Amino acid sequence: MNSYKNLDLDIDKILEILDERVLQHTGRHLLKSERVLIKGSWYGRDYKEIASNSGYNADYLHREVARQLWAMLSEVIGDGVPVKKISLKAALLRLAKKNYFKLEASKLDNDCLVGKTRIYGELPKIESFYGREKDISKLKNQINILKRRCIIITGVGGIGKTSLAAKLVEEMLLENSNLYETVVWIKIHSSIDNLFTKLIDTFNLKIDNESIEEQTFELLKYFQSHRLLLVVDGFEKLEHVANFDKRLEYEKLFIQLAEGKHQNCTIITSQLPLEEVIYATKNLPIDTLRLEGLEERAAMRMLNEKGLWGKECKELIKMHRGNPSELEEAAGRIHRLFGGSVKTFFDYRTTVVGQLLQSMLHQQFGQPGLLSDVQREIMIYLAESTSESSPPIQFSNIIEALKKKIGSEVSIAEAIRSIEILEQRSLVETYRKSGKQEVSYSLQPLIRKYILVDPFNLVRRKTSVLQISNPIQE
Ligand SMILES: Nc1ncnc2c1ncn2[C@@H]1O[C@H](COP(=O)(O)OP(=O)(O)OP(=O)(O)O)[C@@H](O)[C@H]1O
Ligand SMILES: [Mg+2]
Repeated sequence: MNSYKNLDLDIDKILEILDERVLQHTGRHLLKSERVLIKGSWYGRDYKEIASNSGYNADYLHREVARQLWAMLSEVIGDGVPVKKISLKAALLRLAKKNYFKLEASKLDNDCLVGKTRIYGELPKIESFYGREKDISKLKNQINILKRRCIIITGVGGIGKTSLAAKLVEEMLLENSNLYETVVWIKIHSSIDNLFTKLIDTFNLKIDNESIEEQTFELLKYFQSHRLLLVVDGFEKLEHVANFDKRLEYEKLFIQLAEGKHQNCTIITSQLPLEEVIYATKNLPIDTLRLEGLEERAAMRMLNEKGLWGKECKELIKMHRGNPSELEEAAGRIHRLFGGSVKTFFDYRTTVVGQLLQSMLHQQFGQPGLLSDVQREIMIYLAESTSESSPPIQFSNIIEALKKKIGSEVSIAEAIRSIEILEQRSLVETYRKSGKQEVSYSLQPLIRKYILVDPFNLVRRKTSVLQISNPIQE
């Protein structure tokens, strides 16, 4: 059990978690004799040794208590593998891994200690998490082996950026609780109007001078003298409050953080790619991961756990492109409206855009400066000209359509740049069969639906007439 080598796991705490599980499954708490047996087995003692320290008879523990206990635990924590005295510790460690933060930190909303690492901020609790094994191992490799200093996770609303970052932090701490002194999790709310001040407050730095240069200097100094893992979650929300120049200052700070000679790492989650970083990353230890939906196997497990079954589940996953928050909402709706039948849902075939994706699209279309007129026209053209069953559209056809709509002043360069940005923001889907074939584009069904319905009349407004006010508030 390599991954637990640095952890000082406490069997009493694990017993509390186990007791909670047993209560949920059987409606009763663990008996005193069962606790004695579990604890003794954890320390590798035989029945005689356990009995001699506890006042119970060894034969009673073996014949009366153990048999039923192992059968019950096989059901409750076995995950399909029978639990016996010899395999109990492995099963408890599995349980501990799943409940790691519960074990190590009683209150995650307050600053607390996980292993030897101090946690500041609102590290999210992960209740259930499926798949993403490849993403997690790639990210761990980038951070631990390739020594990347800044990782940016981008993707559409609700695709699972925050959950992935939280799971990654959890696994990294689980594998080596000495790696970082401190983990700082900063969730961007619309109330944070200055990231520098937020960081300075979090690190408790005393800075009288309010100039950006001075603040940056002090923050970099702090970073260089501490082993720190900083997570900035929901960077795109800063765009609600910060003006463009200010946002670039933040992006520059991340670049400078990545340049320094230190052992720190910053993880940023954002619906939008970071503009400055895209152009500055070539020779810097910065990586971007564009997060896609869950793979089918993981999404299927998620639906099954939510009580949805049947061959139509595959279609449901495809239609939502494995987006976990969309699938969560769809599952809830299928239970509420169709008695849990995915088949009936498809009989009434409809596409409903979920909340997180919808807020992202409101921001993209509603906030001035985020999408140009050419980008809007490309999206509208794709929505009107494609369907789920039609093939994607070749780039040259998109150019021709743009020329007809906007006029010949649209340059090829502008069209290329526009579609690249849409790709980086995961707003269009790209199909490239081989290097020799022309690239084609389409839209995922939920985004197509949003554009066609245009619920807040944001899509078809020209950028020149957009209001400065923002339709999305947290
Ligand atoms: N791997 C996963 N397994 C199970 N559920 C997941 C997974 N990833 C995300 N979810 C669920 O999907 C929902 C959205 O996830 P999350 O908040 O991480 O998305 P996000 O990309 O950060 O969204 P936003 O852009 O709005 O911040 C959450 O309810 C979360 O529990
Ligand atoms: Mg998020």
